[in-house]
Amino acid sequence: MTHDQAAARIIFLTAELERHNRLYYVAAHPEITDREFDQLMRELADLEKTWPDLASENSPTRRVGGQPLTGFQQITHPERMLSLDNTYSEAEVADFYQRVSKGLAARQTASAPPVDDLLAAIGPAIEMIVEPKIDGVAVAVRYENHALKYAATRGDGTTGDDITVNVRTIRGLPLRLPSTAPANLEVRGEVYMPNAAFEALNAQRAEAGDPVFANPRNSTAGTLKLLDSRLVARRPLAIIVHGFGNTDGLQATRQEELFALLDHCGLPRTPWWKKVRSLTELLAAIRELDSFRRTLPYETDGAVVKLNSLADQRFLGTTSKAPRWAMAFKYAPEQAETRVTSIEIQVGRTGVLTPVANLTPVLLSGTTVSRATLHNEEELQRKDVRVGDLVVVEKAGEIIPAVVEVRKDQRTGSEASFVFPTLCPACQTPVVRDPVQVAVRCPNFRCPEQVKRRLQHFSSRGAMDIAGLGEAIVEQLVSANLAMDAADLYSLRPESLLALDRSGRKSVENLLAAIQKSTQQPLWRMVFGLGILHVGSTSARALATHFGTLDALAAASIEDLLRVDDVGEVVARSVHDYFRHPENIQLIDRLRAAGLNFSSGTATTTAVSTTLTGQTFVITGTLSQPREYFEELIRSHGGKISGSVSKKTSHLLCGTDAGSKLDKALGLGVSVLKEDDFHALLAKS
Ligand code: IVH
Repeated sequence: MTHDQAAARIIFLTAELERHNRLYYVAAHPEITDREFDQLMRELADLEKTWPDLASENSPTRRVGGQPLTGFQQITHPERMLSLDNTYSEAEVADFYQRVSKGLAARQTASAPPVDDLLAAIGPAIEMIVEPKIDGVAVAVRYENHALKYAATRGDGTTGDDITVNVRTIRGLPLRLPSTAPANLEVRGEVYMPNAAFEALNAQRAEAGDPVFANPRNSTAGTLKLLDSRLVARRPLAIIVHGFGNTDGLQATRQEELFALLDHCGLPRTPWWKKVRSLTELLAAIRELDSFRRTLPYETDGAVVKLNSLADQRFLGTTSKAPRWAMAFKYAPEQAETRVTSIEIQVGRTGVLTPVANLTPVLLSGTTVSRATLHNEEELQRKDVRVGDLVVVEKAGEIIPAVVEVRKDQRTGSEASFVFPTLCPACQTPVVRDPVQVAVRCPNFRCPEQVKRRLQHFSSRGAMDIAGLGEAIVEQLVSANLAMDAADLYSLRPESLLALDRSGRKSVENLLAAIQKSTQQPLWRMVFGLGILHVGSTSARALATHFGTLDALAAASIEDLLRVDDVGEVVARSVHDYFRHPENIQLIDRLRAAGLNFSSGTATTTAVSTTLTGQTFVITGTLSQPREYFEELIRSHGGKISGSVSKKTSHLLCGTDAGSKLDKALGLGVSVLKEDDFHALLAKS
């Protein structure tokens, strides 16, 4: 393939991939299978590797994220990003409608005297557009010469964070606009995390012992603030564009025409919107949206109402904060009032202390709520929740009940402030503050509460799945000092179990059999069950498959760990630290002695020789066998694999179509082996 041919093919593949992204993420009508999509993507990635000068910054291959940033640059918005005035009642909507009518009547008199007095009195029919208010994070996205130039948060309205690399991961957002779109254009929209993705992310985080997000907006904001865009790429964010910022040659006279223009540009917009011509129609549209908004795949917290005529919008202008031609109507969230009966602290498996309010049971969106999370110390103090307070609880993002407001006006003076403990309530160890995760932790590894939760996690259905080893038994085992860690379970004796409350001979036999049976569970279940911070079941599977044995996993360097799909810096560091902790090393040895399954059976790496011990390999280009085959060979002869070429690299194993790694190796004078050379090297063993 010549350079020109490659350039043409890259242009074709880029356009195709973006078209298929749009079909999949925006139109929800894919034309090709995921596999076919992946093939096109791979072809593009390979071409870019071979012809690095042809790789563009806006290539679909870059949607997977790049090197972490150290901080966000600032971007000054060419036009200020305003906010909207909120209204909470139909009466306020009527006020808004009247205000706009009056304002526009003034315009009539200003430009030309009214034709007749009656028309002046009632005013002309005013058209407005009603659309959902998406509860996400506001962004401005700028295209220059039809290509995505930057994306920024609102910030203070004047300057925001440059979050381009993160926004680029949003598959539904085009990286290029059609040539018929305005060349330089800025759109404003709302980035959100679809509800299903939010729930999956929270389930994963809970599993991995990470704090969960309170609602999809928080998870979106948290995701957009990540400095490592590779992590962002794994969280499926989406965007809905609702308007234009600074744009050259925008040809439109009415707000409603903007929807067609967004479609023309391939920019995702709200599928539902309504044009209304009177206050009655306006209120009806707001109610209609409320009747189905909970069925939408994203959170909406209101309706946005905008004047249809763009000339009238300009005429009314803005205040320093918000346009006069638009407003947000906020739906009342599902809330209920109830009383806080007590506040308790839960100690999680990783030692995080979470304050929880016990409540007088109250019905809220169809379920009885008797507990609500207070999230963390900072939140608790900010809201100043006291025992005895009348509080408003809400299904935050319709999901986890949370205390949103304290009715301080209802206080009698007998309410008791809650003092966040400085000692762990379970073991009295002084707690430590973890500023990164806004968490307070009990640092005592042997804290009975952590011990219990770790054991519960180990035996849970998602991990080692030990039937009969539920919360109550774990509680007793820990209290009676019979089990302090997972390995202790495998040396439990029937006599000691029989001495426990309500333990019959039969149930003891069953429990011991279930424990014994669990030694045969696949490796990933044990890796997950160990409860390594940040390692959920998905990462546990990926790690077990990649390394094949627990020993290989335990020996892996951070670099090795980073080579595993779906493992980022945070997980890699956590896994690495875990296996270097003497307490954990001992635990692993005892689990091995107990006969647990230490290999995944799929990619078992058994040392064949030590020919390659001390040598580090980097693999690049297309080889005759899948990469895993060579990785396996290298490891089984004692060698190590690394993802990037450096002075420490012993050999670059190089196939056809090698790219920058080959250049780097040649530059550094690293030995370059073809497949034949590699086999010859091994044959020396
Ligand atoms: S139009 C001048 N339309 O709500 C601002 N905003 O509370 C015009 N929002 O800043 C904004 N959905 O971030 C508009 N359909 C929608 C929206 C929407 C959500 C956000 C937006 C705005 C905030 C105001």
